[in-house]
Amino acid sequence: MGSAKTFPQELELFAIEAMRRYGLREDDARLSAHILVLTDTWGVHTHGTRQLRPLLKNFPIGRLSAEANAEVVREGGAWALMDGHHSVPFVTAHRAMELAIQKAKTVGLGYVGVIHTSHFGAAGYYATMAAEQGMIGLAMCNADPNMVVPGGRGKVLGTNPIAYAVPNGKNKPVFLDIATSAAAANKIIRAKLLGQSIPEGWLVDAEGKPTTDPSGFPESGALMPMAAHKGYGFALLVEVLSGVISGAALTREQPSWIPNMPNNPPGPANQGQAFIAIDAGMMLSPEEFAGRMEWLSDYIHATPTAAGTDRIYLPGEIEWDKREKALQEGMILPPDVVDSLTGLAQDVGIDKLPFVAIDG
Ligand SMILES: NC(=O)c1ccc[n+]([C@@H]2O[C@H](COP(=O)([O-])OP(=O)(O)OC[C@H]3O[C@@H](n4cnc5c(N)ncnc54)[C@H](O)[C@@H]3O)[C@@H](O)[C@H]2O)c1
Repeated sequence: MGSAKTFPQELELFAIEAMRRYGLREDDARLSAHILVLTDTWGVHTHGTRQLRPLLKNFPIGRLSAEANAEVVREGGAWALMDGHHSVPFVTAHRAMELAIQKAKTVGLGYVGVIHTSHFGAAGYYATMAAEQGMIGLAMCNADPNMVVPGGRGKVLGTNPIAYAVPNGKNKPVFLDIATSAAAANKIIRAKLLGQSIPEGWLVDAEGKPTTDPSGFPESGALMPMAAHKGYGFALLVEVLSGVISGAALTREQPSWIPNMPNNPPGPANQGQAFIAIDAGMMLSPEEFAGRMEWLSDYIHATPTAAGTDRIYLPGEIEWDKREKALQEGMILPPDVVDSLTGLAQDVGIDKLPFVAIDG
């Protein structure tokens, strides 16, 4: 099928019903649907409701549990370690960031690590939770290896995403939400399916040589880090802050959260995730912080534009604009999302699809 038009509320109701049919609790289904659909409204369709079908397949085979609850297993004043117990990962990540925010409200900083958990979708969602409460938020996780390191060959590190969000006075929070690879794996797989070549700098072949031919991936070859050694260095930092420090599985020990991936180590995903909140008003007052961020935003917005460019964006602005539009006018789901949701509807026996085809 091709693209399709949907409205956020319609998509959310569909996602909740699909999760109910997999046995998830009502509150868990509602929160998870909210997170995934909000991600779609940002235009980040790679990590919105498209992810629900493969994630839900983990429940009937015991890699995730609909009954389990995350639990704090160790903590200090400014930090905590949470065991996800393989419960619904969006809910665990939400609880972890809530705890980080609570600690930051008390002592200025909060850092919560999570183990025994799985795919949380877009890191940016959790970072913006903190920014909505006057905190600078950071969220990140390690993932199963898909990325080469400079000078090497083969898959060594995950695409280890990292997001930050900053309260911005009267404006929506500034936020950057990125993988540490140059491009997402599914962009390469999409090009392969369409028989297209990919830009330079995205992929290396089995020998570790850069290639624009995606046909061998993911069976061989590996993603390249963003900005060469700089992305590699950040991916390593994410591995440390989310995985090494917490006791989660590292790199090649990390099973993919997608069941039945080739060469997957046995057992459920045991991702390490980290959620950090920093009280933005702890050094100056919250009002002074807001005023200074607004000044900085105005300063950046006033940058003279390059030829052919209409405006300057702060990180996150493109997503907030898309969300505003999606809430008012609905949104267009790309074909791979439509296919994933159609498959999910078939899996759980929902007849009415939450979108209307617009082509294909
Ligand atoms: N959970 C996981 O295992 C996992 C793994 C990898 C990626 N992800 C998610 O994938 C998503 C996409 O990652 P990506 O690396 O493809 O992101 P991307 O390269 O599309 O970059 C998106 C970020 O760049 C900012 N941006 C884009 N253009 C801009 C401009 N002109 N000016 C200012 N800012 C601009 C956006 O506001 C956004 O914050 C993220 O949500 C990430 O968390 C998740």
